[in-house]
Amino acid sequence: MKLTLRIWRQTGPDEPGRMTTYDVTGISPDMSFLEMLDHLNEELILAGDEPVAFDHDCREGICGACGMVINGRAHGPERTTTCQLHMRHFTDGDTIDVEPWRAAAFPVVKDLVVDRSAFDRIIGAGGYITAPTGAAPEAHATAVPKAVADTAFEHAECIGCGACVAACPNGSAMLFTSAKVVHLNVLPQGAPERESRVLDMVGAMDAEGFGGCTNTGECATACPKGIPLPSIAAMNREYLRALSKGR
Ligand code: SF4
Ligand code: FES
Repeated sequence: MKLTLRIWRQTGPDEPGRMTTYDVTGISPDMSFLEMLDHLNEELILAGDEPVAFDHDCREGICGACGMVINGRAHGPERTTTCQLHMRHFTDGDTIDVEPWRAAAFPVVKDLVVDRSAFDRIIGAGGYITAPTGAAPEAHATAVPKAVADTAFEHAECIGCGACVAACPNGSAMLFTSAKVVHLNVLPQGAPERESRVLDMVGAMDAEGFGGCTNTGECATACPKGIPLPSIAAMNREYLRALSKGR
């Protein structure tokens, strides 16, 4: 395949960025999108040019590092992570725009790399339990109904990729934060911090400068892990419950 790539290049956080065009040949439809960028970077390095900086780690759809906006959509045309997006979903001769996540709370570090440490600070505000979990047999000592375990697991699937923020016209982190809150708040092990968790995590989210939720639903549409939109309503209920109880 032969493609024309228009990639956002920005040398540093305080430098102006711009779209730069590259013509790339020799792309296999079986390559992942990141492998295609590796291929471009090898050519740039051979030509003595600066390779395109992009974030990645697992390349298995697990770590959430590989976020970028492809043709205006978070993670591109398929509902998956960029590392799991394959070039067979594009057509020979296509022009593809590649940009970093766009959100005030995710400042650009370089090229396609953004700083998502705001997510770490939200998790640090309450995304944990204080109950000692002990060894594996003890972990099963507290019975968890199947339906509750399923809900917790569904929300635990959030990989912190930030596609929900990038897709949201308000740059809201409500879907991410609700996934973390609901995951632990439904479990008996998470009960001791049930109120403080939601108050602290929502407080941290607001302090980081993420926008509010206006129910556009773009977040859940873009989420590669299928975190459901009603998760946000569940978090709002937890928040009102915590306010009514006091800490
Ligand atoms: S809620 Fe979905 S889109 Fe948002 S960070 Fe988690 S996995 Fe990514
Ligand atoms: S590199 Fe880990 S999810 Fe894509």
